[in-house]
Amino acid sequence: MIKKIGVRQLKVGMYVHDFNCDWMEHPFMRNQLAITSEEQLRKVHESGIHELYIDTGKGLDVADAPSAEQVRSTLERELHDMAARQPAATIRVSLAEELARAAQVKHQAHQLVRNVMADARLGKAVELDEVEPVVESITESILRNPGALTGLLRIKNKDDYTFLHSVSVCTLLVAFCRSAGLGAEETRQAGLGGLLHDTGKALVPDAILNKPGRLTDAEFDIIRKHPRDGYEILLRTPGVGDIPLDIALHHHERMDGSGYPDKLPGQRITAFAQMAAIVDVYDAITADRCYHKGMPAAEALRKIYEWSKFHFDPAQVQAFMRCVGIYPVGTLVLLESGRLGVVIEPHETNLLAPKVRVFFSTKSNTYIKPLDLDLSKPLGMGGGDRILSHESAEKWRVEPMRFFGIGA
Ligand SMILES: [Fe+2]
Repeated sequence: MIKKIGVRQLKVGMYVHDFNCDWMEHPFMRNQLAITSEEQLRKVHESGIHELYIDTGKGLDVADAPSAEQVRSTLERELHDMAARQPAATIRVSLAEELARAAQVKHQAHQLVRNVMADARLGKAVELDEVEPVVESITESILRNPGALTGLLRIKNKDDYTFLHSVSVCTLLVAFCRSAGLGAEETRQAGLGGLLHDTGKALVPDAILNKPGRLTDAEFDIIRKHPRDGYEILLRTPGVGDIPLDIALHHHERMDGSGYPDKLPGQRITAFAQMAAIVDVYDAITADRCYHKGMPAAEALRKIYEWSKFHFDPAQVQAFMRCVGIYPVGTLVLLESGRLGVVIEPHETNLLAPKVRVFFSTKSNTYIKPLDLDLSKPLGMGGGDRILSHESAEKWRVEPMRFFGIGA
């Protein structure tokens, strides 16, 4: 059985099933592991991990620890309670209408980040005049329909990850700021910070940045330099505001003080750096990388919610969920009727009842003619179904994103 325990309960003889941490920040232990020595235990303790999952079928048990199933159903209940009473984003134009424009914005922003990183590598300054219009285009797309660009940015080519990740972080931060009710100027600055947050990675050798295997401690030390390097590049940029500087320097800080570069305690991490940290991790763990497959967005949100006890401000994590929905656009969901669909639009007030495009029947195990459902409506009015769970596309061997951009 898979059980969740506190790190103090971990002992030699146990088998770690999941370190329950953002393994982007702990690349040396992203695998499952039998704990066979005190040395390994020490390493786990030092890594800042607070809770983890063990497999009691493969190692020692902890009698009173909750099972993964119990943890999951508690978490799901909390999310549902929260989601039913929180408003989501406003949609001004349909997804179909916004997708073509959003594709252009994605392309334009991708090229820009590529150029900024190339310039930074050559020691050239960032040209804010070139960056600002792109942040503006991203913001406009978000204001029209946040699902279009955020959905499109879920698709990243492995080689383009570093650049598109920056575009994603910008886009999600802009959406987050708008949904949190922040003003236009703060949103603009946060967007700028998002687009430029990893500029310091221009100084990390490609061989480390795109290394398919585990990073050595020495390589990880080099990665850890990118927030300060990025901050220093931005300091040389005339006209850059405090918010982008703060985001570049502090997007890897964590509430429990386990982050880098300054190991800031939670109360010294600004709201913008917190928001950037959540968005950064969300995008990183949902992306396919050369060494692992990305998590479905709905699963990633649940993980971040679980980690928020120690790593993120829980109130900010909830605010982010209000922004992207607990079933983000592009998520594969299983409905009560047995149909599979992809979420195409959040509902304005009920995060549990988005619009879904159904395209597969799990009962007959076949594709069906795509049909758009509004889950906030009853049967006969375009709805009449309910989300049972979010699902992995691999499990059902379907490609939900194929049905994301086409009209039904
Ligand atoms: Fe970063």
